[in-house]
Amino acid sequence: MANTTTNTIYVLNGPNLNLLGIREPETYGHATLADVEKLCAAAAAQYGLTADCRQSNSESELIGYIHEAREKHVAGIVINGGAYSHTSIALHDAIVGVRIPTVEVHVSNVYTRESFRHHSFIAKAAFASLCGFGIEGYRLAISGLAAKIGANAIA
Ligand code: DQA
Repeated sequence: MANTTTNTIYVLNGPNLNLLGIREPETYGHATLADVEKLCAAAAAQYGLTADCRQSNSESELIGYIHEAREKHVAGIVINGGAYSHTSIALHDAIVGVRIPTVEVHVSNVYTRESFRHHSFIAKAAFASLCGFGIEGYRLAISGLAAKIGANAIA
């Protein structure tokens, strides 16, 4: 069978991440979602990848994006599931189901926060997880994902 995988990666942000920059800046910093998406586009381009960035407050819509990633032969997924990371078996199952290499990101260090943030269903489905690097975590996630899928840095 021909390898139809594209050079596109999905960067998925879950609930309340549209409020980055406004929401609890002492925890999440001052950068906005638009800043995150710009950073992701630039980071992906360094590996010849295109970042298709989506944000949704709806669990159902996020699952839809993960299914769409399979249909569109997306090469990898970076996901910040927000609070759904801690609650959603359905997001776990979607990631496992599509068999696309996935990295989990959290802006804050969830392990230094409330204990209900210490467990992530998404972590069980992802090949790697990053937290606590602020929005720089997205760049690190894309770099790690590129290595995983064999996308080399463009000179
Ligand atoms: C978050 C951490 C989650 O616990 C929280 O519910 C979020 C943001 C982060 O990026 O640090 O919404 O995913």
